[in-house]
Amino acid sequence: MAKKNTTQMLDGMPETPTLGATGRPLREFAEPQPLAQHGPARIISLCNQKGGVGKTTTTISLGAALAGYGRRVLCIDFDPQGALSAGLGVNTHDAITIYDLLLGSAKDPNAAIQRTSTPGLDIIPANIDLSAAEVHLVNEVAREQILASVLRKVSGDYDVVLIDCQPSLGLLTVNALTASHGVLIPLECEFFALRGVALLIETIDKVRDRLNPAIELDGILATMYDSRTLHSREVLERVVDAFGTDVLDTVIGRTVKFPDASVAGTPITQFAPEHPAAKAYRQLARELVSRGAVA
Ligand SMILES: Nc1ncnc2c1ncn2[C@@H]1O[C@H](COP(=O)(O)OP(=O)(O)O)[C@@H](O)[C@H]1O
Ligand SMILES: [Mg+2]
Repeated sequence: MAKKNTTQMLDGMPETPTLGATGRPLREFAEPQPLAQHGPARIISLCNQKGGVGKTTTTISLGAALAGYGRRVLCIDFDPQGALSAGLGVNTHDAITIYDLLLGSAKDPNAAIQRTSTPGLDIIPANIDLSAAEVHLVNEVAREQILASVLRKVSGDYDVVLIDCQPSLGLLTVNALTASHGVLIPLECEFFALRGVALLIETIDKVRDRLNPAIELDGILATMYDSRTLHSREVLERVVDAFGTDVLDTVIGRTVKFPDASVAGTPITQFAPEHPAAKAYRQLARELVSRGAVA
């Protein structure tokens, strides 16, 4: 049943709280306190083996929103498609990429870090070379831990590292999960959204058992939500039924502003700061800080 989004005063009764899209009362998340010092980073993977669910968009927009709150943010492009690098408008052509660091042909990750047009938001880019990484890493010693060892060299300088995973559960994604303190799962509000999530959670559980006992599920983020369609509302209700409070209060609406912002190579929080989608990503940043997922 669709939840009503109403505030009403009944004589003498307390005000009925406004319900968010998740059906829970809408909470206000406080503006994060400025940080007196920076680092070491909490590392978060944005992971879903389904493509087109908003991983890259969320990495860019959340990263920019956190930078706007004074956090030092490093994004890792971990998808050979390089959409994160393109979306942040950085050079990948003759740049040192995450591939060079994984393969050891470049040793110092500091040399691969590029600044973006958003102050406080940096990136290690990727390009199509990364598609060969799994084949090359398969015979390496501790092949699942290579990204973790790369990130150890730079995470002291940042408050948060966001890894934009590729749409697969292969060795690169296992590297990302092994390097991470937390996982954020973007889920598109459409019919097949839940397909595959069980397998993703199983993969996270295996990584926790075998490689990274400390990894936590930081939250499930509903994306591309269209409150006008019954379909979107029903899907979100099923997601909340299945995952309860792991589903974040913040829900990202569907809007064409995102493709527009990507073309401009600018995060939405800068491209259209007052757009509801920019506000939603700032709310996501505040929610993650209030949950302790980010400093
Ligand atoms: N909330 C949204 N509303 C509308 N379009 C979106 C939204 N989030 C992302 N998109 C668009 O959907 C496409 C896929 O998003 P993307 O973030 O690249 O997904 P993924 O990284 O999971 O493959 C992109 O063209 C992006 O601009
Ligand atoms: Mg992507």
